[in-house]
Amino acid sequence: MCGIVGYIGKRKAYPVLINGLKRLEYRGYDSAGVALLNDDNELNVYKTKGKVSDLEAYTEDKDVSGTVGIAHTRWATHGEPNTANAHPHISSSGNLAIIHNGIIENYATLKRRLMEKGVEFKSNTDTEVLIQLIEYIQSTKNLDLLTAVRMALHTVIGAYAIAVIDKRNPDQIIAARKSSPLVVGIGEDEFFLGSDASPIIEYTKKVIYLDDKDIAIIHRGEEVKVVDFYNEEMKHDVTEVALDLAQIEKGGYPHFMLKEIFEQPDCLMDCMSGRVNVEANNVVLSAVIDHREQLVNARRFIIVACGTSWHAAQIGKQLLEDICKVPCEVEYASEFRYRNPVINNTDVVIAISQSGETADTLAAVELAKEKGAFIYGICNAIGSSIPRATHTGSYIHVGPEIGVASTKAFTGQVTVLTMLALALGKERGTIDEQKYKDLIKELYDIPEKMKELLKQCDAIRDISQIFTYARNFLYLGRGYNYPVALEGALKLKEISYIHAEGYPAAEMKHGPIALIDEEMPVVVIATKNVLYEKVLSNIQEIKARRARVIALVNEGDETIKRMADMVIELPHTMECLEPLLATIPLQLLAYFIAVCKGKDVDQPRNLAKSVTVE
Ligand code: F6R
Repeated sequence: MCGIVGYIGKRKAYPVLINGLKRLEYRGYDSAGVALLNDDNELNVYKTKGKVSDLEAYTEDKDVSGTVGIAHTRWATHGEPNTANAHPHISSSGNLAIIHNGIIENYATLKRRLMEKGVEFKSNTDTEVLIQLIEYIQSTKNLDLLTAVRMALHTVIGAYAIAVIDKRNPDQIIAARKSSPLVVGIGEDEFFLGSDASPIIEYTKKVIYLDDKDIAIIHRGEEVKVVDFYNEEMKHDVTEVALDLAQIEKGGYPHFMLKEIFEQPDCLMDCMSGRVNVEANNVVLSAVIDHREQLVNARRFIIVACGTSWHAAQIGKQLLEDICKVPCEVEYASEFRYRNPVINNTDVVIAISQSGETADTLAAVELAKEKGAFIYGICNAIGSSIPRATHTGSYIHVGPEIGVASTKAFTGQVTVLTMLALALGKERGTIDEQKYKDLIKELYDIPEKMKELLKQCDAIRDISQIFTYARNFLYLGRGYNYPVALEGALKLKEISYIHAEGYPAAEMKHGPIALIDEEMPVVVIATKNVLYEKVLSNIQEIKARRARVIALVNEGDETIKRMADMVIELPHTMECLEPLLATIPLQLLAYFIAVCKGKDVDQPRNLAKSVTVE
């Protein structure tokens, strides 16, 4: 979703801003823009529909001088993606410029009132309403910018991260947030602003994560000051970001997505590091030690999440019920937050989110907290809003995920859920010693097995090339592999724009079988577990209708090899760990089909990496 970058200091602002926008491209956007204050205190605003490279081309012959600026990538909400609606937006007088992430919900009322006062608008955006409101307040009451921003924010309803500059006060940026992330970077005589730390870390590792209703006054040559909406000073620690530049670059891969797929064995090692100990035979999660009572005595788990994280939650449900014998429900965060759910103080709500910023998941956390539940977060982005809103949690530690389609975060989430189930199962006495030991060993071996599996990359690429013609795909799996089928279908949809559905294999007969003919490729996850024979029958039914079957089987499965059109072999593992392996070929299949079709794999159309609005 929209990206924010800001700079004030001793360097030329433009290259820092453009570089920062490129770092934020992964969030998904449709237009980009920049506002700069040059040495004569003139405000130059340039914006274009399209990519950051289009903005660069547009500004080639323009004045891009100056050491203060703000820049933005917009993901359209109010008003179509075009140049007029792109940010920054300027006030009527031309003195103020703003960039904004989020949504101003009462913008229509505010706009009407401002129009009645004679204010004219150039765009259809909610953001322009905010800058006009700030200017209206500032000019009619003769206020400084900070006070005008504070007063305007008291009036608006919605979610936002904003940065505002004023050409009459060129040494200052005012930034504020509510329900949308914002990070201030602190360098030597210079400051940076970002929707996350990625545009900042090549200049400084020192950051302040702003909290909700914080306003930062970033003034050249002074310390950053943070106040709340009532001008009360807020104290903030400066944090050191543990993020390397190499982690947010492609490292020789053609796409971030492919890099992230291949990183998974190492990511899972990092995720398990210090937590899974094969020699000592145990799994330790600090959250389970620190909050043993709430977690071990949970009468019910409710997992809230969206998208891929919701698929991981479906696997988590099976793990928690199998291993801990505690009922577990999985909810779409967007539904949960609005349906007045029954929540007890013996419930533990688990929030899963890669970005830690998903608006619906964050709102679900707040609701569950209000209703007295204990909240455990499973997130990737360190210091993001969801981990800060939960009582405790475990980071998945898979490093930044830049490709919009989630890959390594999914396997990281499933790994944390497995460790959580093991740690709680052991404490609750619901898992027998041998199974506990076997699972720990098997879990620890997964990264090596993933490496073996990744060696089939070329073979999977060859299979993919056959299917670029397809307009629909069906993915089938059972038990632990049903969520894998959902995830495989989602990956294909997201990046290749081929329609795909995931189903529990047995559900096929209750409807989807009507769709099956020679035009419909069917991916079946058919590993040798308790439901193997039943899945075998499904494959026969599909073949009888002449569809092509791509089967994911265990190594050495000759039976399915004879029936299916193509097979991808998976190393053997315990049933509840199969998703960690079975997901990998499906990620690769989606990736190569999308590449063959010439799609923008890392930034698929209409998608945003972190969905910070409803
Ligand atoms: C799928 C994908 C999305 C996210 C969803 C939740 O590839 O990336 O479906 O999984 O938007 O995002 P997080 O996990 O950041 O809450």
